Amino acid sequence: MKRVAVLTSGGDAPGMNAALRAVVRTAIYYGIEVIGVKRGYSGLIKSDFIPLGIGSVADIIHRGGTILRTARCEEFFHREGREKAVRNMVSAGIEGLVAIGGDGTFRGAVELEKLGMPVVGIPGTIDNDIPCTQWTIGFDTAVNTVVDAINKIRDTATSHERVFVIEVMGRKAGFIALAAGLAGGAESIIIPEKPFEVGDVITKIMRGQNRGKLHSIILVAEGVSGALEISKKIHEAAGLDTRVTILGHIQRGGSPTAWDRILASRMGAEAVKQLIQGERKKMIGIKGDAIKSYDIEWALSQTHEINMQDYHLSAILSI
Ligand code: F6P
Repeated sequence: MKRVAVLTSGGDAPGMNAALRAVVRTAIYYGIEVIGVKRGYSGLIKSDFIPLGIGSVADIIHRGGTILRTARCEEFFHREGREKAVRNMVSAGIEGLVAIGGDGTFRGAVELEKLGMPVVGIPGTIDNDIPCTQWTIGFDTAVNTVVDAINKIRDTATSHERVFVIEVMGRKAGFIALAAGLAGGAESIIIPEKPFEVGDVITKIMRGQNRGKLHSIILVAEGVSGALEISKKIHEAAGLDTRVTILGHIQRGGSPTAWDRILASRMGAEAVKQLIQGERKKMIGIKGDAIKSYDIEWALSQTHEINMQDYHLSAILSI
């Protein structure tokens, strides 16, 4: 193998740059040239390629976002778009692709392999919603960002004796809400994986009220929706001053944590090794402390279950 390409696609995630650096440097270490593709799959269709040398990835390990830029590409959903992408890669002498992104990126990777291009996927998304990996690149940083926000909101919540309903990202999954809620000591955590009754949240708040506690943090995953409505119901039932904070895209930015950089470095290196070994359709994951690889199609048919023990623990710790 003489030349591989690398791209970042879908929502950006802190640590994507660290993964890119690992891909480029590992490939060069093994004597392989690397082509960077700008703006994800749309860059494949437009032949938006740049050569990446050792120096091109210097000074990026600590940077959020992705220096390659990213996009969600409509044209790639059509077969003609994908065929064009593969033709462009072949004429540029590209023999394999490393795609860094979430499940949409992985589905795109499967389609490229069907057209003859070997692909290895690296899970990069703040949502942590990818099967066959305990952690995705960017999740830890996003959770730390949310915890930092909870700390700050708690100061003002305490001062004003208010209830704050904080909505966090995660698409259809509650990984960010659960981890940040547990780490931030939230009174209630509302996630799509666990049906909830707003009445139970209110009962808990009132229990706190009866023992003199007038502030609370309620963490809601965006996949549940209705933070405003939940806040309104709490206000009406408990008579407490309530506010809603939607954290939004702040969760996608920032310098990656040490863990995300380490994870990205390990996964980036492994992705290149998989291509060198002749693998054609793999995703990289982590289980315990071991970096693993799985058939992407099979992996996408699996589920990543939320840790219900943590959910129950958070309920016990916030009685
Ligand atoms: O997948 C990452 C993510 O940030 C989700 O948590 C969120 O639902 C979505 O992307 C937002 O996408 P966009 O930036 O395109 O609005």
